[in-house]
Amino acid sequence: MNDEYKIPNHVGIIMDGNGRWATERGLKRSAGHAAGYKTLKKLAVHILNKGVKYLSVYAFSTENFKRDVEEVNYLMNLFVSKFKDEKDYFMKKNIKVVFSGLKEPLRNDVWESMQEISEMTKNNDGGTFNILLNYGGQSEIVEATKKIVSDVINKNISIEDINTESFSHYLFQDLPPIDFMIRTSGEVRVSNFMLYQIAYAEMYFPKVYFPDFDEKEFDIALDVYNKRDRRFGGIKK
Ligand code: IPE
Ligand code: IPE
Ligand code: MG
Repeated sequence: MNDEYKIPNHVGIIMDGNGRWATERGLKRSAGHAAGYKTLKKLAVHILNKGVKYLSVYAFSTENFKRDVEEVNYLMNLFVSKFKDEKDYFMKKNIKVVFSGLKEPLRNDVWESMQEISEMTKNNDGGTFNILLNYGGQSEIVEATKKIVSDVINKNISIEDINTESFSHYLFQDLPPIDFMIRTSGEVRVSNFMLYQIAYAEMYFPKVYFPDFDEKEFDIALDVYNKRDRRFGGIKK
C-alpha cells in the first residue's frame, strides 16, 4: 500500500446551488451568485496552493442562456466587473487564468474582459485556473472535430495522426484529463461538463450549495479522493 497523500493534478468543479442557497435565505438568486463568487475567489487559491496544477470551474453553460434575461445580465455584469477588478489579485497569486467556451453570443465587453485577464496572467506559473464560460462539452468536441477536419483537408496532419491524445490538443484548452470532479448541491449529473476530459475522473457530489463549499469542504473532498482506488481499467495488484 502506498500511503502517500494524493493531490489530483486537475480538479473540475461544477459550481451548483447558488440559486437555492439564496432562495432558502429569502434572497434573490443574484445574491447567491455574488456569494458563490466570494467562495470561488478564496477556494481557487486554496486549491492551487494545495499543489493542484489545474483547476477548471463551470461558471456558465451555453444552456444557461435559457434563464431569465435579468439573471443572465446579472451574471455577465458580475463576470466583467470581477475580471477587471481581480487582475491584480491573480497576478499577485501567480495564477494563470484561461477560458473555455464559445464567443457567440457573449457580449463584447464580456469577451474583452476575458481576453484582458488571460493576456495579463499568461506567463504566471503558480497553477492554471480554467473558467468555463458559455461552455458546453458537446460543442467543445464538435469544435475540435471541425479544426481536425480542416487540418486534414489542408494537409497539416494525416488521418493516422488522429488519436485520443492528439484529439485533446484541439479542445478549447489543451489541459490534462480531470482526475477529480466535484459537483456541489446534491445533483448527480454532469450537465455537459468537460465530457472528453472526465473519462476516468473520480466523482464526488457533496450536498452543500456552492456558496458554502469553502476551504474546509474542499479538504474533506480531498480525503474522499484519497480513499478512492483508481484502476483505469486495470486490475488491482
Ligand atoms: C450555479 O448555480 C451557477 C450557475 C449555473 C451560473 P445555479 O444558479 O444553477 O443554482 P441552482 O441550481 O438554481 O440552485
Ligand atoms: C451546470 O449547472 C452549469 C453550471 C454550474 C454553470 P446547471 O444548474 O445549469 O445544471 P442543470 O440545469 O441543473 O443540469
Ligand atoms: Mg443549478
